[in-house]
Amino acid sequence: MAIVLGKPGVDGLGEAVGVLREWQSDGAPMQLHPGDLGWFWRSGAEATAAAIRTWSRDGRILGVGLLDGPGLLRLTIAPDAQRDGELAQQLLEDVTEPERDVLPEGRVNIEAPMGAVIQDLLSEDGWNADEPWTPLRRDLTERVDDPGMRIEVVGPEQAHVFTAVHRAAFDGSRFTDERWHAMAGGLPYADARCLLAYDDQGIAVAAVTVWSAGPGRPGLLEPMGVHRDHRRNGYGAAITLAAAAALQQLGSSSAIVCTPSSNIGAVATYESAGFQPRPEVRDRTSCRRRL
Ligand SMILES: CC(C)(COP(=O)(O)OP(=O)(O)OC[C@H]1O[C@@H](n2cnc3c(N)ncnc32)[C@H](O)[C@@H]1OP(=O)(O)O)[C@@H](O)C(=O)NCCC(=O)NCCS
Repeated sequence: MAIVLGKPGVDGLGEAVGVLREWQSDGAPMQLHPGDLGWFWRSGAEATAAAIRTWSRDGRILGVGLLDGPGLLRLTIAPDAQRDGELAQQLLEDVTEPERDVLPEGRVNIEAPMGAVIQDLLSEDGWNADEPWTPLRRDLTERVDDPGMRIEVVGPEQAHVFTAVHRAAFDGSRFTDERWHAMAGGLPYADARCLLAYDDQGIAVAAVTVWSAGPGRPGLLEPMGVHRDHRRNGYGAAITLAAAAALQQLGSSSAIVCTPSSNIGAVATYESAGFQPRPEVRDRTSCRRRL
């Protein structure tokens, strides 16, 4: 049965989010999470749908890709199809041909689960390993320590505070209140929480969004940041603990996050909140030009 490349459209987003939820498990390699779609949703449902590609066989979705920025395809595959050679071959063809409207010409990157056949095919096709990223994980079956500062769940009234802290944490951030509302209106946000941490002066200093994939599955932190004027005070570790506790309340089995290994401060912060680093992962990168 042929593998069919699809673009879901807004009506198909629920199915894409649904399969991504099902594919999350504690044994799985770091992979695209429903929360990644949820975070992308700040650009709106139309833009999210336009950024998604699916690969199906016989009506069943076997692969989901998110075009998460210029030339970056974040791809994941159903656990029972990661060793499926026919699917991997089709994926390679579809990402290689710019006219298939998956990846453009020029410098492109693909994130795919480590251990999937597509990794071998990309490597054989001359795609190099890019910068290392460190996935980190915290088990949530055990008690999570109190963060030791005031933590609030963000509703629509606090959206402006949340976006201001985000902009003060991430260089070049263009996160606006309007985008927060778009994100909060997205399907994955039904299982998400935005949290703010306040210092003892009552100033909002750190922000995180957590995304559950349903009970018994790993939940994702994306993004987490501390206001640049308030760093090195333990607030990063505190908001990360609060994130773990919120995911525990939502029924997640573990909390996961992934950051460039070069972001030493982030790796140290997650570790100080009880997260353990897992083996590094790397995108595959290539420079594609039409002959
Ligand atoms: C990374 C970040 C969240 C750290 O926040 P913070 O409030 O300064 O961190 P904390 O004070 O809680 O520090 C936690 C631990 O990380 C260490 N740490 C923090 N920043 C560090 C840095 N730049 N270099 C080395 N270690 C660092 C601290 O020493 C501390 O270690 P310890 O527990 O062993 O004492 C903050 O720098 C930030 O918002 N960066 C930009 C956004 C970002 O990169 N977010 C994460 C992306 S996924």
